[in-house]
Amino acid sequence: MPAIPASLLLCLMIGCGGGNSTVTPPPPTVTLAQAAAHHNIKVGAAADSPYLSDSNYATILGSEFSQLQAENEMKFSIIHPSAGAYDFSGGDALVTFAQAHSMAVRGHTLVWHNQVPSWVTSGGYTSAQLSTILQDHITTVATHYAGKLYAWDVVNEAFNDDGTMRDTIWYDQPGIGFAGMRTQYIEQVLNWAHAAEPNAKLFYNDYNDETINMKSDAIYAMAQDFKTRGVPLDGIGFQFHVDPSFDNPTILASVTSNFQRFAALGLEIHITELDIRLNNSSTASLNSEAKLYGELATICVQQPSCKLFQTWGFTDKYSWIPSFFPGEGWALLWDANYQKKPAYNSVNKALH
Ligand code: G3I
Repeated sequence: MPAIPASLLLCLMIGCGGGNSTVTPPPPTVTLAQAAAHHNIKVGAAADSPYLSDSNYATILGSEFSQLQAENEMKFSIIHPSAGAYDFSGGDALVTFAQAHSMAVRGHTLVWHNQVPSWVTSGGYTSAQLSTILQDHITTVATHYAGKLYAWDVVNEAFNDDGTMRDTIWYDQPGIGFAGMRTQYIEQVLNWAHAAEPNAKLFYNDYNDETINMKSDAIYAMAQDFKTRGVPLDGIGFQFHVDPSFDNPTILASVTSNFQRFAALGLEIHITELDIRLNNSSTASLNSEAKLYGELATICVQQPSCKLFQTWGFTDKYSWIPSFFPGEGWALLWDANYQKKPAYNSVNKALH
């Protein structure tokens, strides 16, 4: 039997280019923000100011991203903890950090049924009183950040998955005066926000509306109505809190079609809260996460109206997932030790 050349032997042992061999691609040489800049897409991360004292956290946030958004610190219960008292300290710290690192800031969120302080929920207010409280809140917060935030999630999660309106303190329990009138309270608060900060882009933000379904149909009908009548709505935030089961050709095609119908209304598309939760950190799971991250980044790149690709945090160290989904986690682009995961490389490549 002829001798096998040493080079072929090596190929048989460890694999060489082509065929089924695994070639590790070179690491990306530009940041996420740089990779996406020529598409005019901002790359964002949700952040909260206490983490800024963690130097690894601050270094990555300030260098890899072109936008940040408060994960919690601009929500009602934190920024307006008691009647007449506002606490802008956390939000202001984020704005200062962003300005020092040439990052845009996106506000989150003015009207939501969660993280509403007990002075509001237990106050026994009438609709007229709640209306005054909410208008004051929106006006004060939007005015405080006028010129510093380029966009706001004005209303968050107002629909149920079946397209009906969610029963909330702002809609019908008792609501601000438009109970049973579906989207009229959303129209009202968009008008208040626009009056307070006419230069900010105003968004409606939700989850489980990424594909074409009953919820996104209802949001689309609202958006179409608002655009027709000149209600100040500039875009839709699609959250994307998903898991690897979302990586399905039918689902991804539906995301593309859904984005297209909203874009056709003249609205901006923002991916606002993306994370992909796993139930283990095996190589296979991390690779499936990376694949889906890359596919979603590609969908954004291919839709001209998609202007934001944002993850909900950026390091597994501080992700909300483990405390809300026990046993799950590993959902972001950096691991808990600030090492870049396969998902980071996949997103960086897809954003080019
Ligand atoms: O700040 C307090 C701290 O003082 C206290 O010691 C601690 C004890 O539990 O709680 C801290 O507050 C927590 C807060 O996050 C800040 O860490 C709350 O308990 C906790 O409920 C809150 O969770 C946030 C959640 O919204 C509230 O619903 C998550 O961090 C945040 O990621 C999550 O974000 C939402 C978006 O706003 C809207 N879309 C869904 C998304 C995920 O739920």
